[in-house]
Amino acid sequence: MEKKQLVSRRNALLGIAGIAAVDVGAFLGVTGRLGTPELTPAAFADRFEQVYGKHEGFRRNHAKGVSVAGRFESNGAGTEVCSAFRTGEYPVTGRFSLSGGMPYAPDAAATVRGLGLRVELPHGEQWRTAMVNIPVFLDRTPEGFADRIVAYAADPATGKPDPQRTAEFLRQHPETVKAMAYVKAHPPSPGFADSTFHGLNAFLATNDDGNTVPIRWTFEPVGLTTTQATGSNHLFDAAVEAVRNAPLRWQLVLTIAEPGDPTGDATTPWPGNRRRITAGTLTLSTVETEATGNARDVNFDPTVLPSGLAVSDDPLLSARSAVYARSYERRTGEPKHPSAVQVREVPA
Ligand code: HEM
Repeated sequence: MEKKQLVSRRNALLGIAGIAAVDVGAFLGVTGRLGTPELTPAAFADRFEQVYGKHEGFRRNHAKGVSVAGRFESNGAGTEVCSAFRTGEYPVTGRFSLSGGMPYAPDAAATVRGLGLRVELPHGEQWRTAMVNIPVFLDRTPEGFADRIVAYAADPATGKPDPQRTAEFLRQHPETVKAMAYVKAHPPSPGFADSTFHGLNAFLATNDDGNTVPIRWTFEPVGLTTTQATGSNHLFDAAVEAVRNAPLRWQLVLTIAEPGDPTGDATTPWPGNRRRITAGTLTLSTVETEATGNARDVNFDPTVLPSGLAVSDDPLLSARSAVYARSYERRTGEPKHPSAVQVREVPA
């Protein structure tokens, strides 16, 4: 069987069985390491637990979240570069989240916000993506990320990161210094509903003629949403209220690389004049507390892709797949506790 067929068959199987994570982690390679011998997928999952505590039943990162659902209407324009984006309307399960491994952390505007999507395409294929509201990632490698969360962990004595540790980390990671400056110069919006969500990693898109180009994608909000709330779940509560008022919409924009644009470095933006194709509209029309059968039980592994999309050489991608699998395995085998955001309790 050809590689392309194998991949799409694997994704179809994952879609039917709904157990994506566990298998996909095996694609890491024979060593099962993420660059350095010590940083295995399990060690990375342990790292989250060391920094944020162990919270049974919850994701080891992006622990606080709500489930959303809706549809993706593909307008067909994306087929110019990618055969997956055929005209049609496809069901979506998604999840808004806050980065960090603490499921009851109070919302804060500065915390990175996430949107995971699972788009169900024809023939049992799926497109899963997990995106954030910052325009570049802060780390180029899995090791950088694993070290950053330790360097920025709150010091129990002060409740804040130790300035000496963060300074030492930044001295060793000039790419993170550059990425932080870029984020500062392009500050994210205040809420979930008005966030642009960035896929950040590059992927390889192949069209019906067999031509392949690297792409990145973003979901850009359509219309103005101005709901506000107070309290420790104020960002989530505002999002719940916004969805209750009217469905929320984002446009999918594919950005096409030109030769020389880095595909293996999510800390570096591509030049602003790259071609953009608006490939469709995401509509999120319902929101629910995390529960059996909704986004709580999905692993938004970004390497679960339909035929026409494939991973690039970005070292974060295989690491993400492997570590999400460990997190998924652990949390699905543990007792469940109520999520912080109880949608029915959010005042109308
Ligand atoms: C080596 C790099 C990374 C590691 C080790 C990592 C680790 C994790 C883990 C363990 C989870 C929880 C998975 C689960 O239990 O289902 C997670 C969730 C998430 N990550 Fe990452 N991550 C990485 C990079 C990224 C990047 C580059 C992005 C954005 C482009 C991102 C966005 C997200 C989002 C949005 C979620 C929540 C998805 C959901 O709602 O389930 N992560 N990450």
